[in-house]
Amino acid sequence: MPGKVAVNFGVSNILWIVFAASQAFKIDTSPEYRTLAQIGNSIMLTCSTEGCESPSFSWRTQIDSPLNGKVKNEGTKSTLTMDPVSFENEHSYLCTATCGSGKLEKEIQVAIYSFPKDPEIHLSGPLEVGKPITVKCVVPDVYPFDRLEMDLLKDDHLMKKEEFLEDMDRKSLETKSLEVTFTPVIEDIGKALVCRAKLHIDEIDSVPKERETTKELEVYISPKNTVISVHPSTRLQEGDSVTMTCSSEGLPAPEIFWSKKLDNEYVQLLSGNATLTLIAMRMEDSGIYVCEGVNLIGRNRKEVELIVQEKPFTVDISPGPWVAAQIGDSVVLTCGVTGCESPSFSWRTQIDSPLSGKVRSEGTESTLTLSPVSLENEHSYLCTVTCGRKKQEKGIHIELYSFPRDPEIEMSGLLVNGNPATVSCTVSDVYPLDHLEIRLLKGEAVLMNKHFLEETDMKSLETRSLEMTFTPSPEDSGKVLICQAKLHIGEMESEPKQRQNTQTLYVNVAPKDPTILVSPSSILEEGSSVNMTCYSDGFPAPKTLWSRQLNNGDVQPLSENTTLTLPSTKMEDSGIYVCEGINQAGISRKEVELIIQVSPKDMQLTAFPSESVKEGDTVIISCTCANVPETWIILKKKAESGDTVLKSIDGAYTIRKAQLQDAGVYECESKNEVGSQSRSLTLDVKGRVNNKDYFSPELLVLYCASSLIIPAIGMLIYFARKANMKGSYSLVEAQKAKV
Ligand SMILES: *[C@@H]1O[C@H](CO)[C@@H](O)[C@H](O)[C@H]1NC(C)=O
Ligand SMILES: *[C@@H]1O[C@H](CO)[C@@H](O)[C@H](O)[C@H]1NC(C)=O
Ligand SMILES: *[C@@H]1O[C@H](CO)[C@@H](O)[C@H](O)[C@H]1NC(C)=O
Repeated sequence: MPGKVAVNFGVSNILWIVFAASQAFKIDTSPEYRTLAQIGNSIMLTCSTEGCESPSFSWRTQIDSPLNGKVKNEGTKSTLTMDPVSFENEHSYLCTATCGSGKLEKEIQVAIYSFPKDPEIHLSGPLEVGKPITVKCVVPDVYPFDRLEMDLLKDDHLMKKEEFLEDMDRKSLETKSLEVTFTPVIEDIGKALVCRAKLHIDEIDSVPKERETTKELEVYISPKNTVISVHPSTRLQEGDSVTMTCSSEGLPAPEIFWSKKLDNEYVQLLSGNATLTLIAMRMEDSGIYVCEGVNLIGRNRKEVELIVQEKPFTVDISPGPWVAAQIGDSVVLTCGVTGCESPSFSWRTQIDSPLSGKVRSEGTESTLTLSPVSLENEHSYLCTVTCGRKKQEKGIHIELYSFPRDPEIEMSGLLVNGNPATVSCTVSDVYPLDHLEIRLLKGEAVLMNKHFLEETDMKSLETRSLEMTFTPSPEDSGKVLICQAKLHIGEMESEPKQRQNTQTLYVNVAPKDPTILVSPSSILEEGSSVNMTCYSDGFPAPKTLWSRQLNNGDVQPLSENTTLTLPSTKMEDSGIYVCEGINQAGISRKEVELIIQVSPKDMQLTAFPSESVKEGDTVIISCTCANVPETWIILKKKAESGDTVLKSIDGAYTIRKAQLQDAGVYECESKNEVGSQSRSLTLDVKGRVNNKDYFSPELLVLYCASSLIIPAIGMLIYFARKANMKGSYSLVEAQKAKV
């Protein structure tokens, strides 16, 4: 170890030791007087002579310490090499050259230093705006450190300067440093910190060894204003995706880290990307997500809570929440599920009555078939779907109706002009009755309308009708009677079920009294032909029926033609003929009497008891004729003064107590429209002595056959009546009665 050494760089000493021996003998050194060497490098000192052929060299230090170098002699030259240079080489070296008796010596001072590296700038931490920071500039392995000067500059501004003028109590390499504390501002960004170290080694050498280091100021801003944006929402459903983007301000731009808080306060790192996308989320993905902006000097976090809800499965029941079904039809209720893979189904009615239907479940669908649907199915049906822990129920209400047939229109009978008629419209097997409305219209006009609202609590098929009485008139014919039935089902169905029936009105008019035309006449001669035509008005056009009234009261139908033709009449064809006009609305009739006449014949005129009587006798003159109706019989007594018509009863003329004057010619004439016949007799009256009561003759008109003909309509009716009363009428009988 070297002792205490004082190095005097200011002095340059050349020792001249002059020996008298030779004038020409000279010594030289390189470097000449002084050299500066950095510790660790190598230097070579050279000593050479002139004027001596074979000099001898010797090297030593002034204080006779070891040389710490290698000597090499070569002819007139000697070198001392120090490699590496160390503190032990800081001496004045003396080279002594001897030539014979001559001896020369020369001194070379070796100064040493150490300044091997540029200064180092150290910061106490990252530069953060507003936070004091300590900058340290370090110069390592310096020697001689009392010659060291350090400057610390920010850009061109000197912040601190220091000279290390301290006692060098030891020979060693020292590391020196300079510290400055300052608070960076934003303007410091981009500026440079410069640390300059100068080692003033030699006074002579005015240019100091100098090293400097520049460090650009990196000013940081701690992350702040960390913001998270979530798309679409923080409330999510299973299976959804979410994208969260995070931003944070700072310098340098913060790195973004996404993590998720775990239950145990730990955090699970998810991504180092500003955008975090989570797909196909599950409920377990709910939680607090943390975004952290991180840069060199700090971190700033923001949290967001994501809530992933169980995805609700949906239950759909069809058709609709309400269905109208006709009793007897089949109804299929379908309960379908979306959002659940294997649901389980159950059906029930709201009041827990039996289902009365068949359930079939497959996959995500279940059906309840009600076939046929009946009144006991009128419920609200509920389909319960269980999916995992969740349960959902959907209801459907079945509203039943029955309206199977069109209404029926019925008339109380034939519609006859002027006769009140009752029309009824009947709707059968209806349900629900209180929703039924029946209307009766004639053409466009509503005649009657009824809602069956009052009858609410019947749960059965009902038949109802609407009845109306009206008096038809012929103008109604051709009009249409409409019976409309509406069933208003449910509030939701705006259009009611509607059925209708129509009937065209035909108003019948009963046949009017017929008009009978008899051609050529109703009184005919036997053998002639007759046409009897009957007309009757009515609606529909009446049928004609000709028949004949028989004596026993029966009626014999003859023809349905309007004209009844008797081509060749006989006497038996005489009688009452009836024409009837017939239609649905009624019958009208009219009679006509047909009289077939024959000429009177087989006429007899008798006197009873004889044609020759005595005065005072009673004699009956009677006139009879064959059964030819409607023949006048006129009994006369012929006289020159004029004929006397006798008043006869049923063709008989009775002379009581005949007198002489009664004798004479009696004539009976039988006469009808067709012809006449006459007979006569002569009554002889013989005189008696005593006078008897004189019986003066009276005029008599005799009936022949059934009647005396009075060709008047009134008389015809009289005859008809009489015939009716007696059943039959014969002249013989009539005569008998009177005889
Ligand atoms: C970050 O996200 C972007 C855009 O989505 C993508 O291109 C990039 O690869 C992602 N980086 C990492 C590290 O995931
Ligand atoms: C009766 O009617 C027929 C047919 O119309 C006719 O030929 C005949 O002459 C008619 N007879 C009489 C007596 O009118
Ligand atoms: C009248 O009726 C008869 C049957 O009763 C029929 O044979 C005849 O052809 C009809 N005559 C006319 C003119 O209709």
